[in-house]
Parts: sequence; structure tokens; C-alpha cells
Amino acid sequence: MKYNFDKIIDRTGTDDLKHGVLEERYGDANLLPLWVADMDFETPQFITDAIRRRLDHSLFGYTMMPANYWQRVSQWIEDHHQWRPREEWMTYIPGIVKGIGMAINVFVKEDEKVIIQPPVYHPFRLTPLGNRRQVVYNPLIETLSTGGQWSCASYSMDFDQLAEVCDEKCRMLILSNPHNPAGVCWDADTLRHLAHFCHERGIIVISDEIHCDMALFGNRHVPFASVSDEAAQCSITFGAPSKTFNIAGIVSSYAIVPNDSLRSRFFSWLEANELNEPHLFAPIATLAAFSPEGEEWRKEMLAYIERNVDYVISFCHDHMPKIKPWRPEASFLVWLDCRDLDLDHEQLNRLFVSRARLALNDGEMFGKGGEGFMRLNVAAPRSVLTQALESLRDAL
Ligand SMILES: Cc1ncc(COP(=O)(O)O)c(C=O)c1O
Repeated sequence: MKYNFDKIIDRTGTDDLKHGVLEERYGDANLLPLWVADMDFETPQFITDAIRRRLDHSLFGYTMMPANYWQRVSQWIEDHHQWRPREEWMTYIPGIVKGIGMAINVFVKEDEKVIIQPPVYHPFRLTPLGNRRQVVYNPLIETLSTGGQWSCASYSMDFDQLAEVCDEKCRMLILSNPHNPAGVCWDADTLRHLAHFCHERGIIVISDEIHCDMALFGNRHVPFASVSDEAAQCSITFGAPSKTFNIAGIVSSYAIVPNDSLRSRFFSWLEANELNEPHLFAPIATLAAFSPEGEEWRKEMLAYIERNVDYVISFCHDHMPKIKPWRPEASFLVWLDCRDLDLDHEQLNRLFVSRARLALNDGEMFGKGGEGFMRLNVAAPRSVLTQALESLRDAL
């Protein structure tokens, strides 16, 4: 290993969200935080070096996208996911949740509705609601794959129910691909089925692919827009290097819109509001990430995450078998099934927060189906994970 993921980074004094809101959200500032989806690993030096080189220039006027930017992003996507978006389909956006909010404002009228499939990343619900759009819920179905091993549990989409809950006011569906919180890599058939359903009804699919470069254990991410012409024509894909390279604070995201009419509406609105203009460090960090060095770091980081996931699974199996971690197919979030503990919502939170002194994401925040779960962020040095799991075992 060239990179040291065991290194403990002290974030004190950086105003980081993970620690900064513990008192406000959990009522206690002295918890071990394993919640929000950023990593406790150092952002790699080839990214900080690229930013530092620009800082050394010391004149920070207006900026523009470097000439090779979209070629590089598109090449990265093709190299990793065998889909080559055209450069003219792509634009900068200032964050993915913001992108979702902007797409809602452009495409969903006030009396129209947005479909989500809980349990799912909570801003998928909060962003439409905050923009006064009604949300329609199509909960995922729990599946247990062959062998019935709980670490192989996963979700599938409920297409019969989707047909029941969907009406002519539904204008958008927001998809987490891969899925947060359970780390599912949706397969091409499922995505094709969803695309056909949405395309037939004039529903725009927002495919949030922020976790796409972190498939684990030999799984593969399938870009939604790549599965069929219907998928390409009804979708807006959002992506970013922010999760994979731990640069969420730098805010560098992109949207990909293959359909001419959707693209012209969305891009002209972004342009009118200058929301497609990158800040100075966004392209610098992204180009440094989407590079051969970035690829080397990414592979080592994922190997470390896989070992952390295995560690969590075997620790729970050996020491607290009533907590059942689902093995994610992508990303660094582990969905802990705590339902066998037979605790209600408040008791479960008390166990994790007051007794084990841990701050995780409580499953209920992800909506229906999240009850009795906790989401554990395993992008942390192994020693931190050990400390967390031992505290939980002792609390139990
Ligand atoms: C599925 C998903 N989308 C979006 C985000 C946040 O993206 P951004 O910071 O670009 O808004 C996250 C962060 O956890 C996420 O998990």
C-alpha cells in the first residue's frame, strides 16, 4: 500500500460538519461520529498539491473551465463504466442536492409530484418537500439472496406498487444509483424496466450517481442513462468526485443530460442564474482526482473499505449477532439491521448515542423501511472502527 489509511487525522479547528453539529443533532459533542458521508481519510496529496500550486499564484480572479475538462470527465466515466457521455451533454453544477433542487424548480410544477423509493438518502424527500412539491413513495422491497445469509440481504424495486402509486401528476423520480443507504448497485434489467416505465409516462429520472466510482467486492455500477435509449432520453445524471476522493467541501459536481429538450431547458436556466460556473478550485480538484494517481488511490481506498466492511460483518457475527450488517455492493456506508434487538426508535438511539457514545445515521431518517436500522460510515481508520464496535458491544 502506497497510502496510509490507518492515519488518524485530527479535524479539530476545521469547522467540519461531522463533529461540529454533534451537540445540536445528538445533544452531546463528545461522541464518536460515524454518520455524514465523508471519509476520515486524508484527502490525497496529489489533490492538495494541485490546489496548492494554484494558491501559490495568489491572484484569484474569475475563472473558467479548463479546455480539457469535459474530455477528461467523460473519459473517466467511459474507462470506469463503459459509457461515454458526449461533452456537450455535460455541465458543472454546484453540488448534487442543489442540482436536485434546481431540476425540481425547472421541471416540476407546483402541483406536480416527485417519486422516491425509500429507504433512501433523506434529501430526496426533503428537497421536493422544501420546494413545496408533493412526494410520492414507492418503498423498496427487502430481498434475501441465495443461502439466506443476512449479510447478502438487499433491496429490489417494486414495479407493481410503482404503477399503483404513480398518477399523471408525477413528473420526476429520484434514483440513488448506487443506492444510499444500503449500497445496492442496481442491475441493468432493473434500470431498463424503470426507464421504460418513466419514459412511457413522461417522468424525468434524476439518477444520482455520486457513489458510482466505489463499487465493491467485484460488483459493477451501471449508469442509468446507458441501459437503453429510453433511459438516456428521460434522464438527468448527476455525478461528482466528491465522495470517492473525500473532497465534498470543494463542491465540484456535474450533470449529464443526453436529451436535447431537457438539456436546453435545464442548461439555459443554469446559465441564466450563473449556476453552471465553477469556482476556482472545483476543476483543479476534479482533474487531479480523475487522473492515473487518482485511480491508484481509489483502488487502494476501496481495498481498505472492503476490509473494513468484512471486519464489521465478522465483528457483529462474533460479538453482537443481533446486529446484522448488510454487505454493501458500493460505497462506504454499512446498513446495520438492528431489528432483532427489539428496541423501539428511542431505545435504539439511546443505545447508540448515550450508551455506546456513537453518532450514526438513524435508519428512520431514510424513510419507510429504515425503522430499526442504523447507517454506519466505515470510511475511517481501522482503529476508529474497532473503538466504535467495541463500545457498541460493551453497551449492548
Ligand atoms: C446519494 C447522495 N447524493 C448526494 C449527496 C450529497 O451530494 P452534494 O454534497 O454534492 O450535495 C450524498 C451525500 O451523502 C449522497 O449520499
